[in-house]
Amino acid sequence: MKPIKVGLLGLGVVGGGVWDVLRRNGEEISRRAGRRIEVAAIAVRDVAKARARVDGDVTVTADPYAVVRDPAIDIVVELIGGSTLTRELVLEAIAQGKHVVTANKALLAVHGNEIFAAASKRGVMVTFEAAVAGGIPIIKAIREGLTANRIGWLAGIINGTTNFILSEMRSKGLPFATVLAEAQRLGYAEADPTFDVEGVDAAHKLTLLASLAFGVPVQFDKAHIEGISKLEQEDIVHAERLGYRIKLLGVTRRRADGIELRVHPALVPAQRLLANVEGAMNAVLVWGDAVGATLYYGQGAGAEPTASAVIADLVDVTRLHTADPHNRVPHLAFQPDALSDLPILPISEVHTAYYLRLKVQDQPGVLADIAGILSRAGISIGSMIQEPAEDGATIIFLTHEAVERNVDEAIASIEQLPFVHSRVTRLRLENLK
Ligand code: NDP
Ligand code: HSE
Repeated sequence: MKPIKVGLLGLGVVGGGVWDVLRRNGEEISRRAGRRIEVAAIAVRDVAKARARVDGDVTVTADPYAVVRDPAIDIVVELIGGSTLTRELVLEAIAQGKHVVTANKALLAVHGNEIFAAASKRGVMVTFEAAVAGGIPIIKAIREGLTANRIGWLAGIINGTTNFILSEMRSKGLPFATVLAEAQRLGYAEADPTFDVEGVDAAHKLTLLASLAFGVPVQFDKAHIEGISKLEQEDIVHAERLGYRIKLLGVTRRRADGIELRVHPALVPAQRLLANVEGAMNAVLVWGDAVGATLYYGQGAGAEPTASAVIADLVDVTRLHTADPHNRVPHLAFQPDALSDLPILPISEVHTAYYLRLKVQDQPGVLADIAGILSRAGISIGSMIQEPAEDGATIIFLTHEAVERNVDEAIASIEQLPFVHSRVTRLRLENLK
């Protein structure tokens, strides 16, 4: 059978990885795919640099539209990043009747509904295994492997850069900026690293996972997003002493009244597997009603781990290229006309446990007053520690599960108390049971 022809948009970290792995494992891959997968054209900004990187009979151009419109190309692989030019390129590829493989979570989290609708109408596939958790086949697992289940929730470490930063800060006491620079050097970080640090990249990925898990449209604009830039070293140390680790988690949970969709730093019990995911590794814990909890672990970023996922999509598309579009796996796991309108809940309606840290004057009645406020707000205290601080005492409460709105109200009241000397530091605590 003649080879399937691929047009590669981008030959950076991931594009370069795809090129290398296809060259190295081409024969093995074609034994799986049933035909050879051949990169016929590459679009980049710097043609000379790309020319020096590749060999063989491949067109290299600075015009990505020339690749997208080339009638010889069957599959367009978008590895440029960003969501303005790439939206245009992907929609044009679809209009030209080409299948699309992308690693671009920013694009799909914002424009996914439009792109999947256009692809369904045109009868082509848009696949995105590499867009979430790098080399881990989490999309395939949720979309196909867990298809029997009513998925209840999932929680994951889905940004390699921030996990690398938190791990290095905790284990080596290195400063934030030093570790971020190293993550950039290693090719983990986004072109704009604030996407990583402020939780936006993780929220892009979580948005896609929530759609796949619960069969809801892609709704990035409703995600609650907090990054790690405001996290204090003091809380990393306290968490450790209390038997927890702080991780940037993406959590999405189906409740009767809606879906929680949130990214934020969270305390995780140190004995949980997720708490021990270190460096740029990613892990996603998925709970389904039939299977129970399942955990997926692997490299969440970097050239070849991500290429592994891109090429898995290329093989899938190659195998299904000639299949009737109605017999293919739906883009978002559920049939497009069977999506649910269950709303995304505001963060004030989230139910979880909390870590609260504050500084107080060390005098009789302090604890009773604070405990009274928490109790009146319906917040039950799980444990509490107090230790001497410079001009008083530091108190840390770990609460049982509570409604975030009640916790916010209680914090506002606590901060009004005359003997409270600081703002209340509030972190969420996920027991992941
Ligand atoms: P890079 O910045 O390393 O590579 C981007 C590539 O796109 C470069 O080859 C660049 O060309 C090319 N490019 C940029 N603008 C244009 C343009 N206007 N026309 C043609 N080519 C262009 O990015 P990554 O490889 O790191 O990321 C690519 C995508 O993969 C992003 O969506 C990212 O979020 C995603 N991703 C990245 C992961 C990672 O670990 N890095 C992991 C998972 C997903 P030139 O080389 O000439 O500058
Ligand atoms: N910047 C991303 C991360 C790349 O650090 O996880 C992988 O999606």
